Amino acid sequence: MKENNIQTNPPNWAIPGYLEIHHNHLHINGVDAIKLAQEYDTPLFIVSAPRIRDNISGLLEAKKYHPRIKLCYASKANNNLGVLRVVKDAGIDVEVNSGGELFKALRAGFRPDQIEMNGISKTEQEITEAVQAGIYTINLDSPFELELVEKVAAKLKKRANVTVRLVAGVGTRSHAALQTALYTSKFGVSPEQAREMMLRALKSPDLINLAGLHIHVGSQTPDPEPYVQAFIAMWEHLLWLHQETGHKLQHINIGGGIPVNYLRDQTHASEISENEREMLGAKLTAAEMIESTIDAVRTAARQANAEHLLEELEIVMEPGRAVIADAVTILTSIRNVKHRPETGEDWVLTDAGYNLMLSMVMYQWYYHAIDATRAGESHDSRYRMAGPLCDGGDVYFDLHGDGHLPDCRLLPENIQVGDVIAMLNTGAYTMSQMTAYNGRPFPMAVLVEDDGSIEVIRKRDSYEDLLLNE
Ligand SMILES: Cc1ncc(COP(=O)(O)O)c(C=O)c1O
Repeated sequence: MKENNIQTNPPNWAIPGYLEIHHNHLHINGVDAIKLAQEYDTPLFIVSAPRIRDNISGLLEAKKYHPRIKLCYASKANNNLGVLRVVKDAGIDVEVNSGGELFKALRAGFRPDQIEMNGISKTEQEITEAVQAGIYTINLDSPFELELVEKVAAKLKKRANVTVRLVAGVGTRSHAALQTALYTSKFGVSPEQAREMMLRALKSPDLINLAGLHIHVGSQTPDPEPYVQAFIAMWEHLLWLHQETGHKLQHINIGGGIPVNYLRDQTHASEISENEREMLGAKLTAAEMIESTIDAVRTAARQANAEHLLEELEIVMEPGRAVIADAVTILTSIRNVKHRPETGEDWVLTDAGYNLMLSMVMYQWYYHAIDATRAGESHDSRYRMAGPLCDGGDVYFDLHGDGHLPDCRLLPENIQVGDVIAMLNTGAYTMSQMTAYNGRPFPMAVLVEDDGSIEVIRKRDSYEDLLLNE
């Protein structure tokens, strides 16, 4: 397969028309990544608008199984204004998790009826902003929050749309911290409380429109079963409410969590534990998930003679990762290399660490790394790879030996200081969670279009920006 160290077959991470190798360099939508690094410096986020649109079209295939699907992009995954604009122009709606995200969604041009709001501890001010704007719905996290919305609606003399966020004891095969519908999780309300809240909400029809029920089972959910369980739990509540009161809920929100295959390139897969491999390499699509849930609920609806309730129901989905993760590449330069004679190991030190990829330390999340400067060469030499932060945990390998990350990274044998490393699939929970730790100004982000045009969607911060508000 090898000739002068050049690979003859495209590597598994390549995606025709999107991630390709030309002249030994990584190209993103036809644009030479090394030229971008030279022009804009590193670290650099490269966002692919065509890939965002492709991902959204893929998610919309779920409409084959239920035409009334409302996709609300979970903006927490990446709330950059340029990203929001591409999502909006692709014709879908948005989920926000705070007053700040609501502000950004409105600024990006989403209409209020396209916006739904989550949040575990919303302030009265945030609720006021949401009710004032007249958004699609506010997902309630507690009976207290219902009272707060009633109070705000009364003050504003404006009816608020609300949805009750349920936890129904549903587990997934994702990380513990990425499971959000267990009774031990901090989110939502239990079934009994949900029923009480729904009845209570119906007592104030002038102030409250009880619009739906919501469960988010978690992020990076590899199997359809948790979604089926969650949907059935919501369906039972919907049916109970209809039978008790005649009230028809307008929507059921099945949350986010459609996974991204972070292990499309299997180079390091065998070094990762089986559980982790199945989670990180998950291939569940939105269409498969909706197909399974609709099948199960249709049976339940038929038994209850309530098929019309299902047909009229809007199913809301809140995908974050599945829209943005593989649409972004972080370019980071090798700033230092060294050899440790005692261990015989070679080290490469980059200019991007967990300040930009927080999940790498929070969840030991795997992002595939390639040498974009020598993308066509065999990646078969082992390196200890680490970021620039003054913290021994700022590494791209497994410090704990528990099979979350590989021990080393495979890169070409002749890597050099100045080579540009591309971290693939780094669009979700990266830009939106970055920190200026160690006085490292936030990097620049550029948006690449189909025709190769480039737009700066985030300027690089300066040292002066580090002083902003201090
Ligand atoms: C309520 C809610 N909806 C949607 C999402 C998006 O999840 P994901 O990015 O896995 O699709 C999250 C993130 O965890 C969430 O908390």
